[in-house]
This record gives sequence, structure tokens and C-alpha cells, in this order.
Amino acid sequence: MIRFLTAGESHGKALTTIVEGFPSNLKINIDEINLQLKRRQSGYGRGLRMKIESDAAEILSGIRFGKTLGSPVSMLIRNKDWENWADKMKIEGKSSGVEKITIPRPGHADLVGISKYNYDDIRNSIERSSARETAARVAACSIARIFLAEFGITIGSFVESIGGVYPENNFAAKLFDNNLSKNFDAWGLSAKSDKSSVRVLESKHEKEIIDKIKLAKKKGDTLGGTFYVVATGVPVGLGTFVHYDKKLDACIANSIMSINAVKAVSIGTGFESSEKFGSESHDEIILKNNLLTRKTNRAGGIEGGISTGLPIIVRGAMKPISTLMSPIESVDLKTMKKVDARRERSDFVAVPACAVIGESMLAWTLAEFFVEKFGGDSIEETKDNFSSYTRKLHSRIKKNFAK
Ligand SMILES: Cc1cc2nc3c(=O)[nH]c(=O)nc-3n(C[C@H](O)[C@H](O)[C@H](O)COP(=O)(O)O)c2cc1C
Repeated sequence: MIRFLTAGESHGKALTTIVEGFPSNLKINIDEINLQLKRRQSGYGRGLRMKIESDAAEILSGIRFGKTLGSPVSMLIRNKDWENWADKMKIEGKSSGVEKITIPRPGHADLVGISKYNYDDIRNSIERSSARETAARVAACSIARIFLAEFGITIGSFVESIGGVYPENNFAAKLFDNNLSKNFDAWGLSAKSDKSSVRVLESKHEKEIIDKIKLAKKKGDTLGGTFYVVATGVPVGLGTFVHYDKKLDACIANSIMSINAVKAVSIGTGFESSEKFGSESHDEIILKNNLLTRKTNRAGGIEGGISTGLPIIVRGAMKPISTLMSPIESVDLKTMKKVDARRERSDFVAVPACAVIGESMLAWTLAEFFVEKFGGDSIEETKDNFSSYTRKLHSRIKKNFAK
């Protein structure tokens, strides 16, 4: 129903994306897209590249006088660094004179890329496997965020840990206990975590993490970490149990796992719940203000592949960055001799940015299900469909069972 593609190499001229399937008349403010792009570039521990780039989207089509037309929206993000790479990244001509990269980095896509695509230069693997691509994703998914916001759905994130440094009071517990203020909205989480250079919620925690990152830098090493992405305002009924590929939790796991270096995803209390009794894991069903809901939200807002109406809570784990300044072992493909892995300009830590990309990917998946359920060629039509469904939901349940 909705889809997007991205194109572009890390040091190519630009990244591009085509976004399709959103209804017409959706108001788009480019500042909102650029805000998300800026957030993706943030975080203590990023490398030099993020100092060179100041990402901004140029909209090329699909929007007129600030509103979607219903036609494909295409966007372009220029790579400022391209000027320094123009010779190495020529579209035409020969590669003679350009030094080939022959030493693969463990944990990166270098070796698998040359093996699969029969490249004779690791640069070809690096260029598209780089997380630079996620800038185009964030731009594309911003349209999904703007769309969801029309229905009161907001998305936010925070970093839970970096290098195994966890906070004293984990905010996740509050999410699972459903112990949130009445007006809690997920974007508020980001508003708070964005104030921290590592996107955590407590200043003591921030300091401990920065110390750990400094240690990693000193050792020429890198770190990963964990993060939470949360969505609030999601109505009951997105996703389904009728097909394996239409389960909301499965699709969210897929979209978060698709982010570079993310190696684990869980929904709700996830792995933790596997160690608990059922009575400690499930969320009791209650009536609150005459509406059906759950006491707690350990399920993370999804049961049976369908949204419950409570916040969607997703946790992701990012492995440490693969490029090490004190490298581990590799093999030079030119000599087939043991060598140190190649050093390349790189981030030390990118968990704060990864969480922002996580927000984008969650927004996209929710928008996919939302558009599928509520349809509509114009935003007005989608709104009519949405309000008719949500208005009647509880009265329908009551009516059906009172018979
Ligand atoms: C925001 C972000 C920034 C990243 N920056 C780097 C980097 O500077 N150097 C690096 O080696 N890997 C970096 N990575 C991770 C690689 O892109 C990733 O490990 C690589 O594409 C291989 O994919 P895989 O780890 O999913 O197997 C970054 C990932 C993200 C999400």
C-alpha cells in the first residue's frame, strides 16, 4: 500500500528516495523532515563525517503548495563529502589510478560483499552497506511520521545502555507497568533524550556513558548498546494474526532489524518475560472509564500480532561499530597474508543515532498497517474512516456480547 525505495552510495553525489502511497492533502513541512535528518546525525561518539555533512532534504516531486498530491514524493539529500570523493566515485570512466581496498573489516559487509557481487575492490561493498543510506530512510519515514501525527500517533526513543552501562532507574519499567502520566506521548521521550549528548534520560547516566566512550576511544575501540522506541496513540487493531507476514510484532522486528548493526529486537518485556511466571508476564484486562484496557503493558502494546491500543514498546540492540582504530585480525586479499583489519574514518558509537533511525522505521511500519486498515485517497477520507472505526469500537464489542 505504501512503499519507499532509497538509492545512493555513501560518498556518491547524493542519496535519493521515492515514497509512494500516502493520501493527498497531507500537509508537509520540510522543516519536520530536516529536523529528523539532523537528529540522525547527532550523538557523542560520531566520527568526522557527521561534521562534514549537514543533511537537508530537497523535495523534487509529489508535493504542491505544502500538501501531498497523492503522487510519488521524491527527495534528494546531497553528500557534501562527495566533492572530496569525485575522482574515486566517478560514474563513468575507468578505475585506473584509484587505489583498491583489499583488506576486509571483520563485522562489516566488506568480505561478504566482494564474495557475493564479484567485486575487485572492497570500496564497492562499503559504499552501499554504509549506514549513510539511513539518511534517505529517515527522510522517507518522516512522511510516515507526519501522516501518523494527524491521528495523534507520536513516536520517540531513548538510549537504554551503551557498552553495558545501564541507568539506575530504567524508564522502561514505567512503560511496562503502564505507570505513565495521563498526557504521556512518545515524542516527549525524544524531546527529553535529545537534550542529552548520548540520548539518555538521566544526567548521571549520561556522564557514566561518556566516560565509557572516552575509554573506548582511548583504546581505539568501539561500543554498541540498547535503545527503546515507543509509539503512543496507536489504535486497537493494527496488524493481524491471520497471516505470518501480517503480524504487527513480526513486521516491527523486521523493520528495526533492518537497521545497520542492529542484532536483536524485542517487543514489550521480550527476553525478560521468558524467565518469569505467566502471572508475572501478562497484562490483566480491566475496565477503565468504561473502556476495556490492560492494567500493565508488558506485552508492549501488541497481542496476537494486533495492536492493543497501549503504547508500542520496542527494544533494539546495536552491536559495536566494526571499524576499529586498534584493529583485529584480517587477511589482505591481494597477498592472502594475515594483516590488521583496515582502519577507515568511522564512528566510535552510533547508538543515539540508531535509536532515531529506529523511530523512523517504527513510524514506517505503523503507517503501512494504518494505511492498509483505514485506506483513503485523501487525508480527509482516511480521517473519516479512522474516526468512524474508533468511535464505534467499544460500543460494537458491548453490543455483540450483550446479546
Ligand atoms: C547510525 C549508524 C552509524 C554507523 N556508523 C558506522 C561507522 O562509522 N563505521 C562502521 O564500521 N560501521 C558503522 N555502522 C554499522 C555498519 O553500517 C554495519 O555494521 C554494517 O553495515 C554491516 O551490517 P551489519 O552490522 O548489520 O551486519 C553504523 C550503523 C549505524 C546505524
